[in-house]
Amino acid sequence: MNKNVEVLVAEYNETSKFFDRIYEVKNIEYAPYILKSFYSEDDINDTPFRTNLSEWFKGRGIPSWRDNLDLLLHRLNIIAPYELLDKAFGLSLSDQYWLKPYGSNVFYDAINFFDHDFDYAEFMEASLSTNSKTIMKKTSLKTPNNTTDGMLRKAWIIEDGTRYLLKGGYKNEILQPFNEVLASEICERLGFCHVKYTLDTYKDMVVSKCPCFITKDAEFVTCYQIRNDMKRHDNAEDYEEYIMKLEEHGIKNAREKVEDMYILDFLIMNEDRHLNNFGIIKDVNTLEWLDVAPIFDNGQSLNIDYYDEEELHILGNGRLFYEEKNFDEIIKIVKNLRRIDISKLDGIVEWFDVLLHQYQDLTKMSDRRIEKLCILLNRQIAKLREMILR
Ligand SMILES: Nc1ncnc2c1ncn2[C@@H]1O[C@H](COP(=O)(O)OP(=O)(O)OP(=O)(O)O)[C@@H](O)[C@H]1O
Ligand SMILES: [Mg+2]
Repeated sequence: MNKNVEVLVAEYNETSKFFDRIYEVKNIEYAPYILKSFYSEDDINDTPFRTNLSEWFKGRGIPSWRDNLDLLLHRLNIIAPYELLDKAFGLSLSDQYWLKPYGSNVFYDAINFFDHDFDYAEFMEASLSTNSKTIMKKTSLKTPNNTTDGMLRKAWIIEDGTRYLLKGGYKNEILQPFNEVLASEICERLGFCHVKYTLDTYKDMVVSKCPCFITKDAEFVTCYQIRNDMKRHDNAEDYEEYIMKLEEHGIKNAREKVEDMYILDFLIMNEDRHLNNFGIIKDVNTLEWLDVAPIFDNGQSLNIDYYDEEELHILGNGRLFYEEKNFDEIIKIVKNLRRIDISKLDGIVEWFDVLLHQYQDLTKMSDRRIEKLCILLNRQIAKLREMILR
């Protein structure tokens, strides 16, 4: 199902976690975007359509590369993440697809997690706690936490009716949440549409916290899905064709909005702008492409993987579609940098410095490291200022 619309009738094998047979495709337009290109009206069971349906469904779950997955599985009392895929009707907070048992009269409005509360305390503990002994009861699997993507440990929670995603750092790395908050501050000051991240603590661990940017009526479609049936060039053409596609679908100022993301990536040296970390927002009722998705997932920045207490190693490579490239190269895709009022970033390095020092008791981050982070940030801002004035 896609919200209230029947997409297809199929048999889901609870053991193999594959769709064994497709009986009927009812509304292909309402299927996940990536599946449409595999669809042909000939025997749907013989085409890659069925395999890709199963793959897509698996991709909605916790990935095998989730940080500390073994511990999470142990605490959840399951063997593999795919055991969770069909729990709670396969509902998610990032899209509106779900499994409706054939012949039942369950309605989306009665079950979805946008409107209805879910259990999260146990999952949050299982996912984020470093020393929990709790083994979760299988009855607590009524949660959108069954269907979260991404490498970092994370958990959906509800506070005052709002759904928030909490994200930890990778292994012992504690910088990611701070990078998320820094990215939000930059976006706020430069007027870029973004998901607002704040800091929170969970059992002495600093985590980032952001509200759900999706509603019951709007789906997040990743660039990866959109590009899937487009010819791949492995150069800036991939980017240009993507912008064209967004414009064809009527998204206003698509180019500037995507550029904004690359400007942010330049400033914080974000190494992780892979094709599932950006995309568009689609109306699930009318299927209209509404907008570029707000900028999110900016934690892997400021040379996070290459930190050395002694020296300032700078990797300096970001991502532009399928290419890994130097940030100085990627930024060249921005047509007009002069539209950026860089003075809005005055004082932001000092602001970040204070923020990192504030949490030092918890993070144990050295003064030296904080200083190096500030040097890097300052350097990127200065470089951008120079490019604007050039
Ligand atoms: N605020 C949000 N609202 C709705 N969906 C979200 C939100 N934040 C993230 N998601 C969804 O969850 C997925 C994982 O989140 P995110 O990319 O932040 O995690 P990550 O672990 O940092 O990922 P990666 O593997 O790219 O490092 C996203 O791809 C997106 O589909
Ligand atoms: Mg991500």
